[in-house]
Amino acid sequence: MTPNVNPLPPCPKEYDQSIFESHLPKVISALKRNIPRIGDRQPMIGTQDLKWQYCKEWNWVSGFWAGQLWLAHKVSSEQVFKNAARLQNNYMKNTLALRMEHNHDLGFVFSLSCVADYKLTGSSEARTMALTAADSLLGRYRRIGKYFVAWNEDMIVTPGNVTGRVIIDSLQNMALLFWASEQTGNPVYKECAIAHADTLSKTVVREDYTVYHTFNFDPFTQEPVGGENFQGYADESCWSRGMAWALHGYAQIYEYSKEARHLAIAKNLASVVASQLEKDPVPVWDYLLPEHETPYRDSSAGSCTASGLFLIAEHCDCADEAERFRKWGRYLLGGLIEQCDLSENPNAWGLLDEGAAFVHKGRSRNMLPYGDYYYMEALMRACGYHHFFW
Ligand code: GLY
Repeated sequence: MTPNVNPLPPCPKEYDQSIFESHLPKVISALKRNIPRIGDRQPMIGTQDLKWQYCKEWNWVSGFWAGQLWLAHKVSSEQVFKNAARLQNNYMKNTLALRMEHNHDLGFVFSLSCVADYKLTGSSEARTMALTAADSLLGRYRRIGKYFVAWNEDMIVTPGNVTGRVIIDSLQNMALLFWASEQTGNPVYKECAIAHADTLSKTVVREDYTVYHTFNFDPFTQEPVGGENFQGYADESCWSRGMAWALHGYAQIYEYSKEARHLAIAKNLASVVASQLEKDPVPVWDYLLPEHETPYRDSSAGSCTASGLFLIAEHCDCADEAERFRKWGRYLLGGLIEQCDLSENPNAWGLLDEGAAFVHKGRSRNMLPYGDYYYMEALMRACGYHHFFW
């Protein structure tokens, strides 16, 4: 049966392709300017003076600077980007050794550092490190419930549920497993990734194609219990970065699974997101935020969504439909360039302002390394690049 797909609303504004082609070199120059500033550190969150606070050991955001450097190397072939990306290897080795700290985020960290290195240079050391990370991630799979466990004890939010929690962000981490199946010829990584995506589509993704952030399963029977919105406004609201993780995530899972249901979910999520962005292309941090709340925006939700829209377009059968997704991708990306871009500010150590890392903890209006990474990825997709590290 062909899955049902809700259409996108009309796109409010058209951006010319040339804007993106002229902007990509500016972003590459900004990255080059920031290499000596950042050195071998891993940006975590921007400071008010547009510099960075850095990751300590094991942090889900630690691979995004490496990811940007590898993207810049892919575009420019300049050694300076490769050399800077390789400065991250020690941190990644330490991360691999911290096995007890590992969680579902291994894909974010290792796809954008070691898989990227392997794909661009053929480094066997990088390949081995990424496969080790994929094995650690596979160890989090629960066969009865068919899902990957999200966090460890230090992240217990509802006591007793730690072994039964899944998280929408994890869809971004499945690419490491698809890659591991391709590399090793062992289908188990891929089978578990597809089963996990299908479990999330019946639990974290609601029937109206909004999403929870996390969903709990009974830790013993592994039966579904209910959803929560850890980083969103409220349990029944809709955290915009969660929607971005899901939209980009299902499009990416479709690239490997080729199951029409995964692409259909990505398109249906896109239709919900687009209906929320008709007035402003930069997402507010929660799409169901009550009017009395401060509408902080989240440029990282915008950049990840934009990249996901271009990715969906790549997989549309019909040229008209593909162009509708691309038009929305350009609308989001054009909005970020006009409203949040810092690439021409010589004092900025990052690319995008207005990220909302965690509004409940007061972390809003910051530069974010993941916002920057997806911004670069979206720009490259807008300019016709197709093959990435995921
Ligand atoms: N993966 C955590 C976040 O999106 O903030």
